[in-house]
Amino acid sequence: MVDFNVNGKTAVITGGTRGLGLHCAEAFVLNGADCVVITSRKAKACEESKALLEKLAKDNGKDCKIVAIPSDLSVEEDCIKFFEATKKEVKKVDILIANAGATWGAQLEDHPISAMHKVLSLNIVGVFNCIKLFAPMLEEAGTHEDPARIVIMSSVVSLINVDQAGVYGYAASKAGVSHLGKNLAVQLGPRNITVNSLAPGFFPSKMSDGLIAAAGDIMIESNPRKRLGTKEDMQSAILFLCSKQANYINGIVLPLDGGAYLNGGGAKL
Ligand SMILES: NC(=O)c1ccc[n+]([C@@H]2O[C@H](COP(=O)([O-])OP(=O)(O)OC[C@H]3O[C@@H](n4cnc5c(N)ncnc54)[C@H](OP(=O)(O)O)[C@@H]3O)[C@@H](O)[C@H]2O)c1
Repeated sequence: MVDFNVNGKTAVITGGTRGLGLHCAEAFVLNGADCVVITSRKAKACEESKALLEKLAKDNGKDCKIVAIPSDLSVEEDCIKFFEATKKEVKKVDILIANAGATWGAQLEDHPISAMHKVLSLNIVGVFNCIKLFAPMLEEAGTHEDPARIVIMSSVVSLINVDQAGVYGYAASKAGVSHLGKNLAVQLGPRNITVNSLAPGFFPSKMSDGLIAAAGDIMIESNPRKRLGTKEDMQSAILFLCSKQANYINGIVLPLDGGAYLNGGGAKL
């Protein structure tokens, strides 16, 4: 039997209050983590998701400390404050899921430059800043046999060029972070930190629900697996990448879209 787990680990998940980040947080709580730290801009969302994760732990007989720290990771000073606040709450950090992301869709003529800045500040600069800040703690936690993990939440748009919604900054940012992950995998691997990217296709969430509704059935019909991504798909992939068994996997961009990107359809986010 192969038991994929994160027993005894402390995981930090940016954007962990809803959507894919919350799916990851739940997977860690249920599969052995000692501590899960989440962050997002809204203090209320942080408190509500903290309560939800604490209840999940309690209901399932898990002993997992939940920490929620509001911060805007598109702002450099806030990233630093988030890191400092996390350091006060945890003894170590084994896993960093750089998941928080934003998007903006508007055709070229109407695409505000401020939107480009907004998206890139979070999706690239915020990701880089978190990795830079947490790298020393991750290095301290990692071992040769079981390295610390960084997983960047990229997107299949980092692998293909399909954009009908005018998500110029988003697509560029995801291509950028997928490359950043490969770059850092080579640099941090020798420091016992692996860096991998997940490239989801369409998963229902606040970010994607509008596009999924607008696209209608085509997104499912054009998908080789004939469905959208689910919470379980995300949880299985993140657990695997963060499990001891995946310690030799470094620098990959793992598509998680049922194969939709291979036929250029469905997966446009
Ligand atoms: N859903 C999909 O189909 C899909 C597909 C491919 C890739 N992805 C990627 O997966 C990641 C999560 O997406 P999602 O679909 O779960 O989106 P979501 O439901 O909009 O969740 C985004 C999370 O990030 C937080 N966040 C947003 N701006 C932030 C900021 N400036 N600082 C800190 N936290 C911030 C949000 O909370 P607050 O609003 O409280 O800040 C929320 O917790 C993103 O990187 C996205 O690009 C999603």
